[in-house]
Amino acid sequence: MTHKKQQKKISPDQSLTLPADLPALLLAWYDQHARALPWREGKKPYRVWVSEIMLQQTGVRTVAPYFERFLAAFPTVGALADANEQQVLKLWEGLGYYTRARNLKKAAEIIVRDLGGQFPDTYDEIRKLPGIGPYTAGAIASICFELPAPAVDGNVARVAARISGQSFDDKIDLKQAAATALAALYPAERRGDFTQSLMELGALICVPNGAPKCDACPVQASCASFKSGSFSLPARKDKPKRKRADITALILESDGHLAIRQRDEVGLLPGLWEFPNTDGHLTEQEALMLAESWGTQPSVVHGSKRTRHIFTHVEWDILCYHIECENDPPCFIWADQRALSDLYPLPTAFKKLLNDE
Ligand code: ADE
Repeated sequence: MTHKKQQKKISPDQSLTLPADLPALLLAWYDQHARALPWREGKKPYRVWVSEIMLQQTGVRTVAPYFERFLAAFPTVGALADANEQQVLKLWEGLGYYTRARNLKKAAEIIVRDLGGQFPDTYDEIRKLPGIGPYTAGAIASICFELPAPAVDGNVARVAARISGQSFDDKIDLKQAAATALAALYPAERRGDFTQSLMELGALICVPNGAPKCDACPVQASCASFKSGSFSLPARKDKPKRKRADITALILESDGHLAIRQRDEVGLLPGLWEFPNTDGHLTEQEALMLAESWGTQPSVVHGSKRTRHIFTHVEWDILCYHIECENDPPCFIWADQRALSDLYPLPTAFKKLLNDE
């Protein structure tokens, strides 16, 4: 059973006003300026779905090679449903937010098992799939099925807030108000392009950091922020402070093989692989004792390094010792270079410990 967030009700004073000619202005601009992105070819639901999930937390430039590799490995929803979850996670390695990959696989299984392999073609049915919220459902429904369903992520919300000049205290209220206002504007044709033109304006012109490129903006004449000269919308809330955690990771090497183990199925990075580690920063002596407690016979400490890794809610301060061992006790998997690069999904926090040691 999955639990989806309840839609909040918006009070009438929280509506947002957008110019009626927005679709015409944006579509004409989009025809001239749309980027040729791999997932825009053909507008097939499977491709659009995978791309929108990848793009949820990650920029276009990073996503493009991941998208190509993913589609090459799993060219159809059936291939994804049949895949091994570890293989899917491996192809996601480095993108972060791995729940996205697990949900993609779960949804593919549902599509094959319950929907005869056909991607659903209504907003409500699309929205029911694991990992698909209002934004992604709107994107797929409009881009692939030409439905008048807005897709409001942070970028589109920013575009709507700036054009309307209206401020909202709450990010969810802003997104819902933007979705309501945009839904009323959807044109009779080219609905998917309208959705993508809003995303494109947010990415290329009405940018979040630095000055927006108003001189090149097709909506300039009807934009409240341009008229007032203020681009402070939407208001930025202070983010809650991230927790800090010190950890010590051990790269235990035996005969060219490195010790790895699988993380718990719950908590941070569930089911992914890691170098053995423990809370706190250990001295070299303590690290050697810990390695021995796991049954290894350490011989040489090749070196240590210290690095940080930032997750959404926590920041790791990682101290890492690279220790040569004389044996390879079976409490770990001892992976060679090939197994590490081809088989075991190793999150960036650990993978980067291997770089220029
Ligand atoms: N960001 C999210 N979805 C996108 C899309 N379809 N095109 C470009 N950028 C996006």
